[in-house]
Amino acid sequence: MVADTPEALIAPAADVPARERLPQHVAIVMDGNGRWAQQRSLPRTAGHREGARTVRRIVQACNERGIGALTLFAFSSENWQRPRPEVEVLMNLFMTTLRGEIRRLDDANIRLRFIGEPSAFPSTLQDYIAKAQRRTAGNTGLTLVIAANYGGRWDIARAARRVSEEVLAGRLRCEQITPDTLRHYTCLADLPEPDLFIRTAGEQRISNFLLWQMAYTELYFTERLWPDFGPADLDAACAAFAGRERRFGMTGEQIARGRRA
Ligand code: FPP
Repeated sequence: MVADTPEALIAPAADVPARERLPQHVAIVMDGNGRWAQQRSLPRTAGHREGARTVRRIVQACNERGIGALTLFAFSSENWQRPRPEVEVLMNLFMTTLRGEIRRLDDANIRLRFIGEPSAFPSTLQDYIAKAQRRTAGNTGLTLVIAANYGGRWDIARAARRVSEEVLAGRLRCEQITPDTLRHYTCLADLPEPDLFIRTAGEQRISNFLLWQMAYTELYFTERLWPDFGPADLDAACAAFAGRERRFGMTGEQIARGRRA
């Protein structure tokens, strides 16, 4: 893990790595909306609104750069504990953003997916989510995954429950259960695992995000608050990623030999 430098944060677009060194799946914890608002003596909710604008910019930037998948942690299972008015603003923001953006996303060939437990959301939001997924299901550009009412432990527990159901139904024996069996039942099993995880606003935690999926993900932390995070910051994170050696448990020599072969 390499902390980014102020220079890296303002890396010009020319530093964008070649396509083969780009992360194919980027996962982001969009932190710092509240602090952005507080710094301006605004209510926290103003930070979330600005954060939604950043979402639009970063989705477009990922799509333009040819990144295959972007997963955004929009609302964690723990976020219900926030003050009720803030939760309500976030729900409304998801709804209005979905309503306002769906055509643009579809026109840009973006496939929208949601992961998490939707049943706790207002029914109108659940309907929008279902409609948006159906409408964009055939698109072949960026896959945009919104994690909403999602938690990594929830994801793993849900997978374990499904595997148990298979065992109880007699379709699987306990001794046949491998990590790959469980993986098959986790969210995003059909996508490559995230190559790059970005967290904004200085916190260096995963916070119950994609726990299973991020076993070998490269972690990148930046002080930039989410509302201020822009395409140049995304490029800086991708450039840092391109400079990392990913060993997946092997030695550096083995990796170099594999590259030469
Ligand atoms: C964390 O910042 C941010 C959230 C809990 C919400 C993220 C939501 C958005 C960016 C809005 C729109 C999203 C979509 C997908 C339309 P924080 O409030 O914890 O900030 P703080 O740590 O500075 O208090």
